[in-house]
Amino acid sequence: MLKIGIAGARGLSTMMGFEAIEGVKVTALCDLREDFLNAQAKQYNIPHTYRVFEDMVASDIDAVVIATPMQLHVPQALTALSAGKHVLSEVTAAVTMDELWWLKEAVEKSGKTYMFAENYCYMPFTQLVKAMVEKGLFGDVYYGEGEYIHAVPSLATYPDGTYTWRKYWQLGVRGTFYPTHSLGPVMQWCPGDRVKTISTYTSGHHTGSGMRQDDSTVTMCQLASGKLVKIRVDCLSPRPHNMTGYALQGTQGAFESARSDGGKHLLWLDSFGETVERAQWRDLMDYTEYLPERYRNATAEQRAAGHGGGDFFLVADFVNAIRTGQPPEIDVYKACEWTAVGLLSQLSVMNNGKPIDVPDFRNAATIQSQEIRL
Ligand SMILES: NC(=O)c1ccc[n+]([C@@H]2O[C@H](COP(=O)([O-])OP(=O)(O)OC[C@H]3O[C@@H](n4cnc5c(N)ncnc54)[C@H](O)[C@@H]3O)[C@@H](O)[C@H]2O)c1
Repeated sequence: MLKIGIAGARGLSTMMGFEAIEGVKVTALCDLREDFLNAQAKQYNIPHTYRVFEDMVASDIDAVVIATPMQLHVPQALTALSAGKHVLSEVTAAVTMDELWWLKEAVEKSGKTYMFAENYCYMPFTQLVKAMVEKGLFGDVYYGEGEYIHAVPSLATYPDGTYTWRKYWQLGVRGTFYPTHSLGPVMQWCPGDRVKTISTYTSGHHTGSGMRQDDSTVTMCQLASGKLVKIRVDCLSPRPHNMTGYALQGTQGAFESARSDGGKHLLWLDSFGETVERAQWRDLMDYTEYLPERYRNATAEQRAAGHGGGDFFLVADFVNAIRTGQPPEIDVYKACEWTAVGLLSQLSVMNNGKPIDVPDFRNAATIQSQEIRL
């Protein structure tokens, strides 16, 4: 039996995925808020509860899900890894560059599975585009866009007027500090590549949010191959949530995601046989024959999991990586690189958009090769 402990009692989005896998059980839940902890444990039938993370880690669980505020992700991951537990970490991976190096080193030393729970990479339509890229249907992919537009200033304050962690972290730091929902899927469409250089500009402060983060921020990412990726993060502008702002351009095709709820994801491929002058968008979801089999055959229960069923398959991949000892789909190197884009974007903003090199986490062995170069 693989026993899972979840830290952060709001983060039960992974619960359904774990419970559906034979030989896996969520046996422990941890949260500082005792009333909430007990209520959640009762509702989800989780037998053991802990207020203190270290106490849960000292128990007989095999793996932890870290779904606590983001400034706790690395300290808790280090505690868990050094106790020999596998880790599934919520986004972002860390809040400082040094934390990323500590994390990478701890994962390598532990030999345990660390997976980054970037669930937008698992949404059915992002997986469909990934599969089509792998089949070569877009030709040579050379440009991508990702946007995360979700107004959350209200989450920075508790009902009594005191501030939550989001005031200081998600919304308290300048730059595209929360980059992985926009960047992750696009990077999955550029397999084997990595972000080499970034440059970030902001819109400034217009909404009166009172947050340090600018209202809208754009980071341009140059990949090692020379490809270009643009990400926009906007957690403050007043407008409806748009969680699916993506685009992709290749030599033989293009993709534009739906711009709003209910809209269509648009696809054009050279293989449709139209001249470029007469090219017409088609509905991406008419091409689900390219979806990975497990998505095509997903049960109603799997589809009901968060993010269009993506949360279900993310958990399945984490468990599979633990059981096989193979690297997980979104490993610590991707976690560090994608998170670093946000952390370094702060430096770029503070230096008038100056380009900054992103270290190569897979290969930067010496402390000199980990330096940030302006
Ligand atoms: N992937 C996604 O789509 C997605 C969506 C929402 C949140 N998140 C991430 O999930 C994490 C949690 O976000 P949230 O919205 O649930 O935050 P939240 O503030 O609503 O909940 C965090 C929980 O962690 C508990 N907690 C705080 N310190 C703790 C500690 N030391 N030990 C144990 N528990 C502790 C709090 O009591 C609270 O119940 C964040 O990192 C966030 O970025 C990801």
